[in-house]
Amino acid sequence: MKITRMPLLDGLRVVFSKIHGYGVVTTRPFSKGEIVCHGDGVLYKAEDDFDDTYALILPGEDSPAGDPLFWDLVCQTRWFNHSCDPNTEVHSDWDHETNSIRAWWVCERDIPIGEEITYDYAFTAEVAEACACGAANCRGLIIDESPENLARLPEHLRPLLRQPARAAS
Ligand SMILES: C[S@@+](CC[C@H](N)C(=O)[O-])C[C@H]1O[C@@H](n2cnc3c(N)ncnc32)[C@H](O)[C@@H]1O
Ligand SMILES: [Zn+2]
Repeated sequence: MKITRMPLLDGLRVVFSKIHGYGVVTTRPFSKGEIVCHGDGVLYKAEDDFDDTYALILPGEDSPAGDPLFWDLVCQTRWFNHSCDPNTEVHSDWDHETNSIRAWWVCERDIPIGEEITYDYAFTAEVAEACACGAANCRGLIIDESPENLARLPEHLRPLLRQPARAAS
């Protein structure tokens, strides 16, 4: 029997992270504006029973039917952690050829070898979690800091929110 492995993304390596659990560090430098990688994922529907910990959740405007999209990451991007001062930004669109999502991560600044790749998860208030990114501007929570989202933050999470996000609530 032939054993096949998930192809590894060039320039990235999964390690124990200082932020949380596993994370991904660079094995070569990346430059501001460069695409770090394209992700690979499996599409789920909102009604499917699955663990969304490792999924990109995208708003309905990206999908032909207008429904929110759940794309479970199945490559090293699965282990990218969140930071409130991220070094990449995730981009996505709908691929009409494959009827699925395309997602790719772009450097927000030059990234040296060994730095952990992060992006802003911008979670909705309902799924916000305590943040351990360690950035000077850490919001205290993994959360989208738009005023409408912060207004929906459950009471028990409000004490974790740090300035200036707290001022917006
Ligand atoms: C896609 S996983 C990232 C990989 C994760 N480190 C692991 O080992 O499974 C997303 C989860 O990792 C955790 N996580 C990611 N970034 C974090 C952060 N800045 N602070 C605290 N937990 C974080 C949260 O529990 C989040 O729901
Ligand atoms: Zn943070």
